Amino acid sequence: ALPSSVRIVEVSPRDGLQNEKTMVSTVDKIELINRLSDCGLKTIEATSFVSPKWVPQMADAAEVYAGIDKRPGIAYPVLVPNLQGYERARAVGVQEIAVFTAASEAFNQKNINASIAESLERFAPVITAAQDDGVRVRGYVSTVLGCPYQGEVPLSDVVRVAKDLYAMGCYEISLGDTIGVGTPAKARAMLQAVAAEVPMDALAIHFHDTYGQALANILACLEEGVSVVDAAVAGTGGCPYAQGASGNVASEDVAYMLQGMGIKTGIDFTKLVGTGVWLAGRLGRETGSKAGRAYDP
Ligand code: HMG
Ligand code: MG
Repeated sequence: ALPSSVRIVEVSPRDGLQNEKTMVSTVDKIELINRLSDCGLKTIEATSFVSPKWVPQMADAAEVYAGIDKRPGIAYPVLVPNLQGYERARAVGVQEIAVFTAASEAFNQKNINASIAESLERFAPVITAAQDDGVRVRGYVSTVLGCPYQGEVPLSDVVRVAKDLYAMGCYEISLGDTIGVGTPAKARAMLQAVAAEVPMDALAIHFHDTYGQALANILACLEEGVSVVDAAVAGTGGCPYAQGASGNVASEDVAYMLQGMGIKTGIDFTKLVGTGVWLAGRLGRETGSKAGRAYDP
């Protein structure tokens, strides 16, 4: 059954910007997040405390996090790959983190220089520290519908990694189609398989739109009962270590679809479109959101 309301997890400040070749200024990153906070979103992934040698665009994570307005009722999670990232995040008062691994060994090596098992070992002390500090932990599983390096990813691997992250204490597991190769029937089957082991209300979906399938995949997953959807305004995004990955599904397109279906999001669509158009302008291109291009308030 379809959910009556959906929480959009806005990932443009992190996933949306991490793959941008041109450096986006810290001031613009802060303005983006503050604008997003005005749109009625409940979760805004603010930045990532990864190695600046690996992802130079996120080198100003501490300045960005320290600079944003933290509005009551909005969570501002950040990506953390290891204890060093956790400590940098905590030094500026981060209250929620996301750890990230993949269902594919080949992708994990490229992205975080670790096997799946090594990555989980690395997260264990991070999650323990977070629990001691009262910090919430979200978990990502990448390459759930295909890997740029190994191709097919067995469903059993997706289920196992999601289950492990949940058992380790992640309150929510986001299932990522990193390179946007999935199609609706596969997306649905993947979600069903994971939901047999992890409660549906602890699952989120994260679709990149490389092949134009993201909205269709999201609809299939909504029909299975998932109610948390990751998206990025202007359709920005992509992982620098996932060859061929393109943008996330555009938040404006998801919000438009949900609104049309009578599913509550709490989002001010006009403001969201305005933020996407503003961001695209800062990046020097047209918005990647079809709804954003079409809508004329
Ligand atoms: P490594 O090179 O194996 O790490 O990288 P290391 O521990 O050997 O450290 C190497 C250097 O990095 C050292 O510096 C460390 O201090 C430094 P040096 O001694 O050479 O001067 N370092 C750090 N500096 C700052 N903050 C840190 C940190 N950690 C180490 N946290 C590592 C391993 C995990 C660090 C690296 O591979 C990395 O940062 N990877 C992140 C890649 C990334 O951000 N990818 C994109 C996010 S995932 C994604 O987009 C997918 C998602 O959207 C879902 C989906 O779509 O599927 C979430
Ligand atoms: Mg992503």
